[in-house]
Parts: sequence; C-alpha cells; structure tokens
Amino acid sequence: MSRVKPHAVCLPIPAQGHINPMLKLAKLLHSKGFYITFVQIEFDKLQNSGLSTKGINGNFQFQTISDGLPPDNQRGVLDLPSLAYTMPVHGLKSFRELIQKLNSADSDSPPVSCIISDGGMGFSLKVAHEFNIPGIIFYTLSACGMLGYLQYEKLIEMAYFPLKADLYNGYLDKTIEWTPSMGTVRLRDLPTFLRTTNPDDIMFHYNMESAQNALKTGNLILNTFDDLEKEVLDILKSKIPNLYTIGPLCLLSDQICEPELNSIQSNLWKEDEKCLEWLDTKEPKSVVYVNYGSFVIMTPKQLTEFAWGLANSKFSFLWVIRPNLVEGGSEAISGDFLNEVKGRGLILDWCSQEKVLGHSSIGGFLTHCGWNSILESISNGVPMICWPFFAEQQLNCLYLCKEWGIGMEIDVNVERSEVERLVKELMEGEKGIQMKEKIVELKNKAEKATEPGGSSYIDFDLLVGKLKGEIP
Ligand code: UDX
Repeated sequence: MSRVKPHAVCLPIPAQGHINPMLKLAKLLHSKGFYITFVQIEFDKLQNSGLSTKGINGNFQFQTISDGLPPDNQRGVLDLPSLAYTMPVHGLKSFRELIQKLNSADSDSPPVSCIISDGGMGFSLKVAHEFNIPGIIFYTLSACGMLGYLQYEKLIEMAYFPLKADLYNGYLDKTIEWTPSMGTVRLRDLPTFLRTTNPDDIMFHYNMESAQNALKTGNLILNTFDDLEKEVLDILKSKIPNLYTIGPLCLLSDQICEPELNSIQSNLWKEDEKCLEWLDTKEPKSVVYVNYGSFVIMTPKQLTEFAWGLANSKFSFLWVIRPNLVEGGSEAISGDFLNEVKGRGLILDWCSQEKVLGHSSIGGFLTHCGWNSILESISNGVPMICWPFFAEQQLNCLYLCKEWGIGMEIDVNVERSEVERLVKELMEGEKGIQMKEKIVELKNKAEKATEPGGSSYIDFDLLVGKLKGEIP
C-alpha cells in the first residue's frame, strides 16, 4: 500500500450552508489521515471570511480560486446567477491552475488523490478527469431536496418547463408523481430554481446540469441518515449506486473528529458569544430561537410582522437578524418594540447556532428550513416552525410538517397573529408536545446512526476506503 498521505481537495459553494458541511467532512477526513486542501472562492474572502487554521499544525490548508466576477459586482448578497455564469469558466480555469500547483514538483503537499466537489461546483470534476484524479460529489442538501432537483426531466416532459407566465400561480398547485408513501407533490413544493417561466433561466439549467453530473458519476455523498429519509434514499440508490449517507455531520463529527480541529472556524459573519450567557439566565425550554440562515432576504413589512408576533406571544426569544437580512435595513425594529420585549428578547447579527440549539433553554426554533439548520435542530431535539424561502426549503418543510411531524408552517405572507399563535402552540400547545416527542425519537435515531455500527458511521468508513482507493 502507498505510504504517501492521501490528499483530498474540498470545493464547496461559497455560502455558509455549503461551507459548513463541507468543512465538517474535511475535518472528518483529516481525522482519518487525509491531508486537506479546503478551497474558498474570492467571494468569501471579500465577505470577511472567518475561515482560519489557527492552532493547526500542518496537513490542513486553505487555498483560494477566482470567482471571475467583475470588480464592480457588489458581492454583498450571494449573486448566484452571476456565479452560475462565471464559475464553470473562470472557476474551472482557476481550479485547474490550483490542482497543477498542488501537484507540481515544488509543492509542499502530497499529490492530490481525490476531489470532493459540492453538487453546484460540478465543473471541478472535469479537472479531476483531466488529471486522472477520482472525483466525488457532495450534495449538501436533503435527500428529498436532491430528488426534487432530479425532477427536471419530468418537468420538461410534462411541459412544466418553462411555466406559462399568465398561468404561473395556477400551475403551482399542479402535481407530479413523487414517492409511493407520499403519492404526489405540488409544483410549489419543488425547488424554486425549477419553477421558471424563462426557457433560458440560468439557474434552471445550472441545477439541471448539476443533477445530471451527480447521476453520471454514480457516486454521491449526502448529509442525511437512512432512518430519516429511507424511502427517498431507496429511490436515489436505484439511480446512483454508490450513495454515502453520512449525516447528521454535526453528530458524526462529535464521534470522530480530533478535538484540535475545533479551532478551524468557518463563520462568514462574526459570532456573538454573549447570547449563551443570556440563555444561561433563562428557564429550561423557555426560549424561542429565530434564525433565517444565510440567504433569506425579507421585506421590512415581514420583519415587522415577525417582531410583533414574537412580542405578542409573550415568550422569550433569541432572534438573529443578519446584517443583510432585510431589504433596505432593519429600521422596522422600533423603539416601541424594543421596550415591549425588554429582558425577554435578545437580537443579534449572528451566533454559533449549534451551541445555541444545544442550550437547555431553547424550546423551539423558527427556521427558514435550510438543511443544516434542520439537521442541527433534530440533533438537539428542538421542534420547529417553518418559513421556507427558496431552493429546496419548501420540500424540506413539507417533510418536516407532513412526513416527520416535527414542524408547523407559517404562510409565506407572514402575519403577526399567525406567528403569535404558532409560537404559543410550539411552546405550550398539544401539537408542540407531540412534535417534541417525535423529534426526540428522531434525535435518538440520528445518534444511533452516527455511533460505531450505525448506518452513517459505516457509510463514512466505506467512503474513506473509497477515497483512499482501498475499495473499488
Ligand atoms: C441554504 C440551505 O442549506 C439550503 O436550503 C439551500 O440549498 C441553500 O443554502 P443557509 O440559508 O445558509 O443555506 O441555511 P442552512 O443550511 O441552515 O445553513 C446555515 C448554517 O449556518 C448552519 O450550519 C448554521 O449552524 C450556521 N449558522 C446560521 C450559524 O452558525 N449562525 C447563525 O447565526 C446562522
């Protein structure tokens, strides 16, 4: 067997919900003896990257590739359509140069032995092919979300792509076949990028190609666990023979990662630590945690409705209002509101979500249904209120509310009375108690899956064998 250290190059999409799980996978592989090159995009650096290897001695490096966006691009909010144009050309060129550099005779690192690419960075597999290096895709979303993206073909066949502009809203209630137990889903439940009236929509085509890429390689990594998404995973396995389900990564990391890797941070915004002390002062399960992840943009009116819904519920809450969350700023948070919630409402820019969800004072989570947020909530046994925004979040919400019974949905046109009602139900109602019971069952299953002998633990070992070239 080769004595050279295996070297994995990890390429995430430059967004928090993609960087976090990829970094967790990178740390897991490091703990299994891999040298890691973690690639960030210029975009992250410009956005005050928190990625750092402070305290790590060797064998883990960060490298940067170009995003190809013009200098006048704002880059303030992740500009996905522009990146979808530039990354497969400029990103590819820059990534190729990086692999060349890493494999050159004067490189400090061992030769690259595998490339792990986010589903949305599939262009990197072309580079893997050119250099004859094995490449594998890691889709950081749910299995149900992945199945959603694989519907592109059916949508084209059924003439639901492109949607007719004048019939758009009517069409959203049309259904397509889904899984045996769920029957059908509505078009409005499918990933937003697949619902378009524009035949040339860059995001439709980009996502279609990404899904096709995953099918072509026959290998796929997903951050989920078998007991959670069994039916959907069985369908995916019939299309993708080598499917590695290694989630929840937050729990698998606790089992396997070397403690010194904790110092490698990936937050794109600065974390506020004082909220943990504030939570220490609260009763167990008494606080609602509110966070919309890294992409959601809302209107001042929506912010106002959430604010007064929370205030009127009379429960304590920890509310993360990201600096670029509200179109035109968060002035809707008025003095009256702050007076009303004094002592029981804490508002922050960004926090360490995993620590917050793991705090004993948290009783519920109002979330945008990003997949990492959901897994972190399940891993801590915290039931949810769902306000899905875009991408595959509607599908995640459907599964949370209908299939797993651990979430309740808020209408897209959020109103304060509904927020108040749902928060009360979540925290003290009958439905809240049922959701709590169900999520604790799922938490136990997630823990089992990630312990030695569990499905995710075993799949991770198989993945390591595959990436080391020990398993064909
Ligand atoms: C989204 C979703 O993953 C997905 O639905 C879609 O494909 C596009 O990307 P995001 O909006 O960032 O990502 O949500 P989520 O998947 O929940 O990831 C957010 C990550 O940031 C989580 O790991 C969470 O712990 C972390 N986070 C978020 C913090 O650490 N602090 C915060 O204040 C907010």
